[in-house]
Amino acid sequence: MADLLLKKGKIVFMDGIREGDVVVNGGKIVEIAADYREEATRVIDCQDKFIFPGVIDAHVHMRVPGTEYKEDFATGSMAAVSGGVTSFLDMPNNVPPIISKKMLTEKRGLADGQSFANYGFFFGATDDNVDEIKRISNVPGIKVYMGQSTGNLIVRKDEVLEQIFSYGKFPVVAHAESQECLTRFAEEYAGSDARSRADFHSVVRPSECAREAVKHVLHLAKKYDARVHIAHASTAEEIDVIRKFKTDKVTCEVTPHHLVFDDTSYEKLGLKLKVNPPIRTRADVEALWAAITDGTVDIVASDHAPHLLSEKDAEYEACPAGIPGVETILPVMLDAVNKGLLNLDRVAQLLSAGPARIFGIKGKGRIEVGYDADLVIIDMDVEKKISNAQMLTKCAWTPWDGMTLKGWPVMTIIGGEVMYESGGGAGGASAGVGKFVSSRRAGELDFLQ
Ligand code: DOR
Ligand code: ZN
Repeated sequence: MADLLLKKGKIVFMDGIREGDVVVNGGKIVEIAADYREEATRVIDCQDKFIFPGVIDAHVHMRVPGTEYKEDFATGSMAAVSGGVTSFLDMPNNVPPIISKKMLTEKRGLADGQSFANYGFFFGATDDNVDEIKRISNVPGIKVYMGQSTGNLIVRKDEVLEQIFSYGKFPVVAHAESQECLTRFAEEYAGSDARSRADFHSVVRPSECAREAVKHVLHLAKKYDARVHIAHASTAEEIDVIRKFKTDKVTCEVTPHHLVFDDTSYEKLGLKLKVNPPIRTRADVEALWAAITDGTVDIVASDHAPHLLSEKDAEYEACPAGIPGVETILPVMLDAVNKGLLNLDRVAQLLSAGPARIFGIKGKGRIEVGYDADLVIIDMDVEKKISNAQMLTKCAWTPWDGMTLKGWPVMTIIGGEVMYESGGGAGGASAGVGKFVSSRRAGELDFLQ
């Protein structure tokens, strides 16, 4: 007898939505049937609901090790699961940053047994750790900060960038803001009256700095025929450049906050919206949506970057950049579906199949026989007002506070286990159910289909 039967749901496949039953056994999808007649240990009625492939959030900062007071694997992964995120890929700008094989192993040890969701870890590049990059395995990518952000990870030397691209074993994930350009603008605005403007962060880290960096990495990727992933593209100018260079090896991510907020949003939210790259103009927001429609954008990732409200409530210089988002990424995209901005099967490509493809995660991101039973049940008719008080992230706030979104996950299943039910909290599950997610290497390109 099968462990679990999801009965009569609208199943979200990559090429469309069809009604049927999903049968789960031993943590895997074992059958997809129009009408499954056998018994199962647990049957969940999915009538009028959608069965969606578990979200793989390919860009989060869970703050372990070093700043666990902002987030840890248990709180961050519970927040993730409550929002339909079944796996996450965590960034290396920890304290200390994850820049050696030893630290990577230690970080994995800190996550093992702690997480509700599945997890993988990016590795950080510096000006002098190419040797370490060559020693590691099983990472989804190498994170390259081209400009300074939260933490002190950065690659300043061009010859090092060349070495990283020429190595080519892992995709290079670029935080593309040029440090030279950022420094130029910081100097220009030092002591300027503009510093008191609500949107100063967007003024002092302009579009130009992102465009310069994106151009630079895309030229390098082309030179070495390497795989590059542009993290959090935020401007129309970047999108134009990416569109020109786009191949199977050039991929692009956008965040929910860059798809929703614009530089007028600072009036209400102030420095809570301080984030790198900054919130941009409405024209930029529209360019990102157009790029989602035409396929230039491959994935949406949250860039969940929790900081406490007490830290965000500071003057400009002292306010840390970053906003939380792992538990709102799916509802924000579902609300966009309800508003007619895109289809639900496109959301599944952007949030689930896309990240699995780009980061070489086998057996996840789709509803197919043999795939892991990481699934989300969605009710597209549920409307909920978001509030800071509901948030499960340790930082306990969200820029979506007070907004009403339509379309919510009502149940999250990981490896065939019900991990979360709306109204019911964690469905009897305990931290530690989440497993390490391994990534295939860039050389093994069969997963690119
Ligand atoms: O705003 C940001 N916050 N951008 C980053 O690149 C890092 C992140 C963080 O870790 O807080
Ligand atoms: Zn980030």
